[in-house]
Amino acid sequence: MTSPNHPFLAACRREKTPYTPVWLMRQAGRYMQEYRKLRAEFSFLELCKRPDLAAEITVTPVKRLGVDAAILFADILLILEPMGVGLEYSKDDGPVIHNQVRSRTGVEQLVEFEPAEALSFVFEAVRKCRVALDGRVPLIGFAGAPFTLASYLIEGGGSRNYLRTKKMMYTDPGAWRALMERLAHALAKYLNAQIAAGAQAVQLFDSWVGCLAPDDYERYVLPYTRATIAAITPGVPVIHFSTGTAGLLRLLRAAGGDVIGVDWRVDLDAAWERLGYDVGIQGNLDPVALFASPKEIRRKVAEILKRAGGRPGHIFNLGHGVLPETPVENVIAMVEAVHELSAR
Ligand code: CP3
Repeated sequence: MTSPNHPFLAACRREKTPYTPVWLMRQAGRYMQEYRKLRAEFSFLELCKRPDLAAEITVTPVKRLGVDAAILFADILLILEPMGVGLEYSKDDGPVIHNQVRSRTGVEQLVEFEPAEALSFVFEAVRKCRVALDGRVPLIGFAGAPFTLASYLIEGGGSRNYLRTKKMMYTDPGAWRALMERLAHALAKYLNAQIAAGAQAVQLFDSWVGCLAPDDYERYVLPYTRATIAAITPGVPVIHFSTGTAGLLRLLRAAGGDVIGVDWRVDLDAAWERLGYDVGIQGNLDPVALFASPKEIRRKVAEILKRAGGRPGHIFNLGHGVLPETPVENVIAMVEAVHELSAR
């Protein structure tokens, strides 16, 4: 059993810890040779659907990097597959949704499903991760937030301007509401099933919500993110993550979460001041900083720790996921620097 006083879980509750806990988004991925070796044999979706392999991929970076939390190997888009929209991970273009949702009819055609059944491989992976971790560090479960998932359903993949997403938001509010309600409902069930299977904290990824004006966030997104977070099993810490949202911090805070994840485009001290000190903060090293020398990485780590000011409730992380070309030794140097420079 992981102790409830493990530094990662204590930091989520804004309690004092002997050092600042650190983990990395996408810590299980292509920058690791162990992962690339498995990927040579299996497709990404196959790996996600093999709980034994997903657990192995989850645990490997914990052993190699010395991080203070594990994040389940899965993907935010898995929940879209049982909706019948035709999810595919293409080699060159990233994820693709073949049957995009563009109207009220499109929303109504989404298949109703029971996450506990349709995504049982995820919960089996959670159970296997807990066994394999053997109490070493806590396990973080996760899901995409309603807006970011809606953007994939509507655009069919990544997007530059989120034109179709915003167009539905502005011109077909009934369809938008129906879609966001469906997603919020499914996401809460999905996260609670991960928790029931053994996830000890959860992170909600609203990676692309930074494209919105504050007024639009408040009107079209906040109610659904808030409903998702409010429905999560009490007592389990929630990390609410997004990027490019320096102008939305107050609203993200209002939507909920015990810890707010911020990227490197905002100074950590300024962000925390805006959020208020009654919430934790996670971040916020630029992932590209891991391509600098270990000396420069250490300097940047020190700068972020200085901005956190030794306040309880800081979880060190990147501002977004580790990039595939990142040198593993630099990631290890970063983790060591966080532990050494924050020791108190
Ligand atoms: O953090 C972890 O190590 C846990 C696993 C995890 C993955 N995706 C594995 C993955 C997590 C937490 C995610 C979240 C995710 N997925 C997000 C939110 C975070 C973010 O990056 O903004 C988003 C937007 C996605 C959707 C997604 N999945 C994209 C855009 C892509 C293609 C681009 C890319 O980075 O490859 C994926 C594929 C994906 N998800 C891979 C991995 C390891 C690569 C698959 C491969 O091996 O080819």
